[in-house]
This record gives sequence, structure tokens and C-alpha cells, in this order.
Amino acid sequence: MQSEQGFVLNDEQLLKRFSYINGSWHSSESDLAVTNPSNGKVVAKVSNAGIAETELAIKSAKQALQLWSSKTANERSTLLKNWFRLLIQHQDDLGRILTLEQGKPLSEAKGEIAYGASYIEWFAEEAKRVYGETIPSPSGNKRLLVIKQPVGVVAAITPWNFPNAMIARKAAAALAAGCTFVVRPATQTPLSALAMAELAERAGIPAGVFNVVVGKDSRGMGKVLTQHPDVAKFTFTGSTAVGKSLISQCATSVKKVSMELGGNAPFIVFEDADLDAAVEGVIASKYRNAGQTCICTNRIFVHQSVLPAFTEKLTQAVSELNVGDGFAKQTQVGPMINSDAVSEVDSLVNESIAAGAKLVLGGKRHPAGDAFYLPTILTQVTNDMPIAKNEIFGPVSPVIAFTSEEQVLSLANDTEYGLAAYFYTRDIGRIWRVAEGLDFGMVGINEGIISNAAAPFGGVKQSGNGREGSRHGLADYMEMKYLCMGGLDR
Ligand code: SIN
Repeated sequence: MQSEQGFVLNDEQLLKRFSYINGSWHSSESDLAVTNPSNGKVVAKVSNAGIAETELAIKSAKQALQLWSSKTANERSTLLKNWFRLLIQHQDDLGRILTLEQGKPLSEAKGEIAYGASYIEWFAEEAKRVYGETIPSPSGNKRLLVIKQPVGVVAAITPWNFPNAMIARKAAAALAAGCTFVVRPATQTPLSALAMAELAERAGIPAGVFNVVVGKDSRGMGKVLTQHPDVAKFTFTGSTAVGKSLISQCATSVKKVSMELGGNAPFIVFEDADLDAAVEGVIASKYRNAGQTCICTNRIFVHQSVLPAFTEKLTQAVSELNVGDGFAKQTQVGPMINSDAVSEVDSLVNESIAAGAKLVLGGKRHPAGDAFYLPTILTQVTNDMPIAKNEIFGPVSPVIAFTSEEQVLSLANDTEYGLAAYFYTRDIGRIWRVAEGLDFGMVGINEGIISNAAAPFGGVKQSGNGREGSRHGLADYMEMKYLCMGGLDR
């Protein structure tokens, strides 16, 4: 593929334009345009599937279930490992496709491919460790056991911020457990999903086991995925508002659900923190993916006594960030997903300035293009301002001063969200008090990058339920079945 940016894919077969259903590529009557957020230009037209294709994909997944679930764990593991190896082998091309449709810097995009693939490798191993249990029986002539079985057909809706990894994290666990899978990726970033399907096929994953339906009809396709009687489990990564409505749709057939929803991560800098390390942590956790991750730092709480020193260091570091096209070598912060997303962030910034926040850096669109926003710092923010109450999903750091541990814990927890939190301190007693006191599913302690395949990713409160990755990740895709064997006279 010769792109606008002038690069060529090593393997042009990775650029697909059709939904992948039951092992074949399906065209539809209309197309949807995929654009490069960096310049707004159309990079590909993909067939626009709808309700009929979604139903077909579920039917195929249902038909493939018997074959796939009856394979041994070792057989499924081998095929998942093949898929993992192919993703790594094509990391450069997959990274380029990802940057082209999503905008993130190429190094970050390639990092995402390795990150997504790591879940596939992880669950290829975990597939072999699905253990049941025996239960000491209360009566002599009975034996009690628990076995684990795949839930069945899994339907997923995945977001544009991690077009590869959010699919990999769900599909790897589902397939390892013996489930079959239908995903509707975000319409902004379908190319990465379709490239994964091409590699799944090359890996030898049988037809119908992994299906990708790309289409604009989010409401219609969403209804099918959440309400179809043949779908046993639904999983979603995206906003809390959309997640709530999808959960209520799933209720009609009492589906098993797992939800990875919005966040409002506090990042607490205590008075004894290593300030340079804390600044590094903010840069990593806030400005990665132009601030468009669910676990992004959203509110930076800084102890009053170190506020001037910390703000100065942060301002210096943020002002040095290179903003630009994701393909440019020096770029550290790419575009946001589109101009509307920039407008939303800009409104939050302006509303907060009107409410008393002080603009230290940025605070407006970046001249690189419609979807770019300047890395921004606001100080004198309070926890009730719009920038602190809402999930920002953009490159803005709101700084809030605090004076005591008790006060900051209460401020940090004062949100309906509960995904990730971060804090920096060198006091071991405080580490335990604060780690245990934060109402969040994941906590970074003196660390701004917490995600990896070995760890349970997920939130509490309105940030969702279920855990992805780790040794717990298969549980969301399995049912436990209790067996009671009677008539066993001693
Ligand atoms: C997300 O934004 O939901 C995913 C972030 C991650 O996996 O690190």
C-alpha cells in the first residue's frame, strides 16, 4: 500500500476492506470511509456491513462453537501461539496501519501491536491451566466436583483508542476458553481489526471462530450483538454512558457481561515524592495516545508544599513534548481522533478557566491540524470543576492542591469512576494506607504505566466489571458447572 505518507506495506494483503465472517471476506452495498486523523484524508473505504452481516457472523460463530470448544486446550493454545507469532512478525505493517487510521505515533502503534499480541501469547498459555476442583463431600455416597466450560458465543464492541489491543485482550481470552467470537470494531479504526482477522486465518484459526463485522449502524448492530439469543456473553470497552445502555440491552436475555468503561484517574503527588519520577509518571500516564486512554491521569493532586516545584518541572517536561503527525520520527503526541473530540476537550478547558482555573500551558488547538490540541496544564483547579468531574480524554493536566492524606483520599475517591489511580510517595506506611483506601480497580504506586498481560485490568464503581488479562481473565469467558455424583456406596 502506497499511503499518503509515502510508505509501503511489506505485506499488502494485510490491508482488507471487507468484514470477515465465517472465514471469508464479505462485501456490502455501501462503504464507509476511514480517515487519517492527522490530516482528515480518506485512507481507505471499507464495506459497510449491517444487521444482516452481524446476524450471519453470530450464526457462523454458533456453528463453529462445537468444533472449537471440543479441541483440546493444547490445540487451541498452538493456534493462538501461531496468531501471536504472526502479529509480531508483521508488527511494522500493523503499526503503520494503526497509525494511519488512529493517529498515534508510530513507535506507540508498534508498541500497541506487541502489547495486544502479548495477551494472545498469555492466554495461549492460560488455556492449558483451566482447572476444576473437587469438593469434600458432606455425605459418604456422593462426590462433588466443579468443571469449567466455555460460555459460548461471545460478542464484543471495541473502541478506536486501541484498535488492536482491545480486540486482542478480549478475543485471546475468549478463544483460549473455547468460545467463538464476533467483534464490531470502532468504525474509525476497522483496518487494524481486519488485519488481525487476516492473520488469524493464516494462523489456522478455523472459519467462524473469529469474526469481524464493520458497519456504521452502531445502534442496529449493537442491538443484535447484545440481544441475539445465540450470544452467551457480551463484552465492551468504551464510555460509561454507552456501557450502561448496552448492559440494559443485555438484560433482556440475561447475558453474562464484562465492561471496561470510563475512568477519572487521580494522580497523587505527596510531599515526600520523588518529583522527577512523578513528572515522568504523569507524562507517561497522561500524554500517551494524546490523553485518550481510559486509565489516563485525569486529576493531578499535588501537596501544597511541593506545588511550585512540581508545577515548574511538569511545565518544563510538557512544553518539550513534540506534537505532530504520527509518522514523523520526533512525534511524541499525535492528533486526537477527530476535530469534534478536540472541541469537547477545549470546552472543558474553557469552562474550567471560567470557573477559576489558571492556564499555565496550551489551552487551544495546535496549528498542525484540526484534530490536534496543545498539551495543556491548568492549575488552581478544584475537584468540582468540569475538567475534574469529567473524563477528559485529551492531553490536559489539571493540577489540584491538597494539604493532608485524609483530604486527598476523600477528593480522589469523590467520583463515580473507579478504574485506575496513581500515587507517588516514599513512605511505606502511607503506601499501604493509600493503596487500600483508593476505590479503584488498579493502582500505580510510584509508577505511571501499569498495563500488562499478566495483570488484571478492570475497574470498580461505574468504570465497569470483570477483569481482562492475568490468570483471572479466563473466568469471564467460562461457566463453572457443579457435578454431584451420587449412588457411590462405600
Ligand atoms: C484503555 O484505554 O481502555 C486501555 C488502556 C490500556 O490497556 O493500557
